[in-house]
Amino acid sequence: MEIINVKNHIEGGKIAAEILVKAICLKPSSVLGLATGSSPESTYDALVESYRRGGVSFECVKTVNLDEYIGLPQASPQSYHYFMWKNLFSRVNIKPENTHIPNGLAENPEEECTRYDKLIESLGGIDIQLLGIGHNGHIGFNEPSATFTDGTHVVELAPSTIEANSRFFSSKNEVPTRAITMGTEQIMRAKRIILLAFGEGKAEALHHALCGEINPVCPASILQKHQNLTVIADEDALSKM
Ligand code: F6R
Repeated sequence: MEIINVKNHIEGGKIAAEILVKAICLKPSSVLGLATGSSPESTYDALVESYRRGGVSFECVKTVNLDEYIGLPQASPQSYHYFMWKNLFSRVNIKPENTHIPNGLAENPEEECTRYDKLIESLGGIDIQLLGIGHNGHIGFNEPSATFTDGTHVVELAPSTIEANSRFFSSKNEVPTRAITMGTEQIMRAKRIILLAFGEGKAEALHHALCGEINPVCPASILQKHQNLTVIADEDALSKM
């Protein structure tokens, strides 16, 4: 495991983007596993910056997102589809057909999970997975539980996640209670993982994830077993290490 201690999320985003750009230059058809939320925003800004300078092309890049809420239309500003188009896809030359996000409006969410697993397999797996970490140690929407999860599945969001994500909605009651997420074992199959953590609010979860017992009570703790994990975090997030 490599830990890169950065000044702030801007510097962290630049470093994460550099890693992604290098990977895309080496393999233009890279499969990127992407996350939403506050943590990867500065990475997406730095990627866009690099694209505008001519440093990278997304022409052949393929993306698979970690998760999506169940029940939100793609056009809803709180959906992860909307987030990805606003923050990255509409700002670079990626082909829409090469971007993949679970369909939270699928009539049969379980079938959608199977379709998504097959899709990831058909792409040859994930080359680099970008992750944030929840205050409760979740990755994707894999909430603390009794077992680690395998493939894409439907989850009930933990009250603490609903609370944390309510900042993007006008009230807590509007936050969907279910989501589709890639599983922890599936995330672990990515060839390389970059975990982003910024701010004091992540300190406890990051400490447990990287130094605590490997236990599904902190889903991110499984990352300790990954052969190629880079953690990019600021002083505040690393303050309990
Ligand atoms: C988002 C995701 C979540 C977030 C986590 C941290 O696609 O999978 O696991 O990475 O909730 O969210 P932020 O970055 O908003 O603190």
